[in-house]
Amino acid sequence: MTSAFDRRTLLVGLLAGAALAGTGIAVSPGSGVPRSAPRPAPPPRPLAVPPLAPSTSDGGVRTFRLTAAPGSAALLPGAATPTWGYGLPFGGPTLRAARGERVRVHVTNRLPETTTAHWHGMTLPAAADGGPHQPIDPGATWSPEWTVEQPAATLWYHPHPHGATERHVHRGLSGLFLLDDADGPVTALPHRYGLDDIPVVVTDRTFTADGAFDEEHRSAHGLVGDTVLVNGTVAPYLTATTARVRLRLLDASPARSYRFARSDGRPLLLVGTDSGLLPAPLAVPDVQLTPGERAEVLLDLEPGRPVVLRSLPQDLGAVSGTERSAGASDTLDVLRILPADVLEPAPPLPEVLPHEPGPDPAAVTAARRLELGDDTIDGRTMDTGRIDAVVPAGAVEVWEIANTHTRPHNLHVHDARGQVLSAAGRDVPAAERGWKDTVYVAPRTTTRVLLRFGRHTDPHTPYMYHCHLLYHEDRGMMGQFVVVEPGGRAGPVRTRAGVGPHGGGHHG
Ligand code: C2O
Ligand code: CU
Ligand code: CU
Repeated sequence: MTSAFDRRTLLVGLLAGAALAGTGIAVSPGSGVPRSAPRPAPPPRPLAVPPLAPSTSDGGVRTFRLTAAPGSAALLPGAATPTWGYGLPFGGPTLRAARGERVRVHVTNRLPETTTAHWHGMTLPAAADGGPHQPIDPGATWSPEWTVEQPAATLWYHPHPHGATERHVHRGLSGLFLLDDADGPVTALPHRYGLDDIPVVVTDRTFTADGAFDEEHRSAHGLVGDTVLVNGTVAPYLTATTARVRLRLLDASPARSYRFARSDGRPLLLVGTDSGLLPAPLAVPDVQLTPGERAEVLLDLEPGRPVVLRSLPQDLGAVSGTERSAGASDTLDVLRILPADVLEPAPPLPEVLPHEPGPDPAAVTAARRLELGDDTIDGRTMDTGRIDAVVPAGAVEVWEIANTHTRPHNLHVHDARGQVLSAAGRDVPAAERGWKDTVYVAPRTTTRVLLRFGRHTDPHTPYMYHCHLLYHEDRGMMGQFVVVEPGGRAGPVRTRAGVGPHGGGHHG
């Protein structure tokens, strides 16, 4: 009885709170974020879970197909939102593969313009990376292929066309790419996809009066919305049937950061970061993610007792008072979790997790310093014909990333995984050193990260490093590096290789 009452109270409360926010989810008074046109509050809806992408075995290669196409999504009651998606109106299916597997993805472009498909967090040959140098023209199919050679992690995929990434992602193009270890999912953790292992792809949008995504009103950070979508669901709730759930959190927003916490004040159990599991579960009060970052957290639940995953106000360390327009002062209800009255019990929490030790600091062969400025890195904007750095295959390097600017930025490095050594003058303790490929750098601070690069060499095809606030990236806050044999040199940049209107060809 109590729980039924709680649940009704919760829904009523949700509706009341939503009414205050115009389109939906709580936006704090005074938020500097562009506001959606007023409309009736959207009713709570069950969280959509993206389907697992089917695959075929093609000569031992696990083969997926993705098609990027325009569509229309019923995100708000009584409105159809024009969207782009990968076989879904918004978002894309979840790709899943295991370490050691050979994978191929046929990506077909049915959009009215050129796109790309980038596998964020993946160690792979540069020609398969899907950055600006692997364009897929309208009507073409691009078919990259590689071998998964990294541990279990929550990766994702999204377009990366130079200068247009924010628009393509904002219209709805992104999906998850889950990696398992060679022996399958970690069974000590909740691992039943959609049942107790839940994708939570968090984005934000502002809606116009006719229900379209607002692509016009941008702050200095880019497109920041007043309405949260999880897996493309506005006002989502999750009905839980197990006493422990694992949430795979991805900040897929163009510019907004989140500080995730439980509404009941209990800690989150952090088990994974961008590109791997932690050595052991870590109880933390909250988890902050900036665009592109991921975290895997466990929530222990009580029968019939709802809990809300919230985003709390954050200190992004902005110097110039621009935090409000980044949404940093907002409190957001991200996902309501409604546990059933009877829950399947959870096994004891594992004391250790399958964790790959970090790069060996003794193996460091180079230290680089990067300066993030106002839409620049090291005082320059992106030039697709310029190679900014040459990295020997398999190198371990320290990247010292200094944000010399007054606004928040982060840095994502392709084909690399590593651990944060220090951030804003604080050393990161070993227990918190999760595997990362995207790191936050607060204004006027320096983040030091130990990175291990992949072993695939190609002197002609660059990988990217960039701010993952997509507007900044599009404006040129990006550089290029090639991975070469030790002692090798960078060649001239090769671009548009093997992609044509008839497509289908894998190029090397
Ligand atoms: Cu998630 Cu270079 O991108
Ligand atoms: Cu990436
Ligand atoms: Cu930036």
